[in-house]
Amino acid sequence: MSGTAQREMIIRGGAALHGTVRISGGKNAALPAIAAALLTTEDVILHNVPRIEDVNVMMDVIRALGGIAEWAGPGTLRVNAADVNSVVAPSDLVVRNRASFLVMGPLLGRFHEAACCPPGGDVIGQRPLDVHLAGFRALGATLARMDEKYHATADRLIGSQIFLDYPSNMGTENLLLAAVLAEGFTVIRNAAAEPEITCLAALLNAMGAKVTGAGSHTVTIRGSQALHGAEFTIMPDRIEAGTFAVAAALTDGDVLLENVAPDHLDALIWKLGEAGACVETGPETIRVRGNGKLGPLSVQALPYPGYATDLQAPLATLLTQATGHSVLYERVYDNRLLYVSELRKMGAEIVVAGQTAIISGPTALVGTHVRSLDLRCAAALVLAGLVASGTTVVAEIWHLERGYERFAEKLQAIGGDVHYSGG
Ligand code: EPU
Repeated sequence: MSGTAQREMIIRGGAALHGTVRISGGKNAALPAIAAALLTTEDVILHNVPRIEDVNVMMDVIRALGGIAEWAGPGTLRVNAADVNSVVAPSDLVVRNRASFLVMGPLLGRFHEAACCPPGGDVIGQRPLDVHLAGFRALGATLARMDEKYHATADRLIGSQIFLDYPSNMGTENLLLAAVLAEGFTVIRNAAAEPEITCLAALLNAMGAKVTGAGSHTVTIRGSQALHGAEFTIMPDRIEAGTFAVAAALTDGDVLLENVAPDHLDALIWKLGEAGACVETGPETIRVRGNGKLGPLSVQALPYPGYATDLQAPLATLLTQATGHSVLYERVYDNRLLYVSELRKMGAEIVVAGQTAIISGPTALVGTHVRSLDLRCAAALVLAGLVASGTTVVAEIWHLERGYERFAEKLQAIGGDVHYSGG
């Protein structure tokens, strides 16, 4: 095991968080934006890109295909795909995250050929690719499975009416990325409506594409013959913002989040208020203050604008400190409650029945050794450490580094007693 894989995060609980946190650019918006650069021979300059491991992997995929992906300044990435000379994404990189499968759409759009193995990513339930593949077929591609890879080829990509069986985020993104270079009109119905889709459509339009309806469940694309370069700023990370908002309420602190889009977090803001926290929003800020006590919640994780599944585990940590019984119903993934076993090691009283977690509180959490099982599990455990007595050691913290930029540093700046093992 490498040194990075062995790194642990050590948290001493007890401090309320106070201060200001600047939220980074969105992971799940930056990753498709990097893939979008494959659609043109010109430079795509992306600002507000988080320096996280998933972005590093995506940059490596672009380079492996023959393109350039380099940091041009703090948070600014230059991607140039003029010299792309391969349509086969290397499997050793693709298995390292989920988003690498997003190169399929733009490669198919521009070169009429793409190959990629099933991607990696968090183990949180079934994560099929049928929506992506059915959409590529609807655009005129032929799909074959050779060795471990999906191979898509098309003589021509032709705009089409596509109905998604499920409003998959990446499925919608992959089809957008292919359809912008297809002939004629494509209409994607039952499209995902997440803000990351709107962000990708705005980038594509800045590159010369004609996409309308993003952010609704019907997205229309008028295909273009070619796209050009663009300079674009990635939206704020709504899940990072939500994680810090939960941390503020959990520790009974007072935290101002800057560089956020409050309307992307309506469901969380509503629920934090219902639990008893004080939440104030400005045009690009959210302030969260505890008021000394937390009440229980009933929450369903749903596609946007419902409560975000990626904020389900952090909320569970909060609810261990709420007085009464809370219900968390995970409706996006079929296995995203695995983190419960780790929270239980710290004393949490949580019962799981199917996709529902019933949390009884408040419970005095106790610091101990726990293990990150996925990205958001890692965040939930670090948050638990902030209110636990004694010392919490979170192993396999590399999961966290896939998706949160400088998480420990940001927590330290607002009073969190966290550091890495050996650091
Ligand atoms: N699904 C299908 N068929 C498909 C694809 C998905 O049925 O072809 C189902 C899945 O089984 C799952 C549901 O759709 O039950 C949601 O999956 P979706 O495809 O929307 O997720 P994704 O696009 O693979 C993105 C984020 C996830 C986030 C989900 C849901 C990226 C890179 N990842 O994944 O982020 O949980 O949308 O909002 O954009 C995270 O950041 O921690 C994370 C897991």
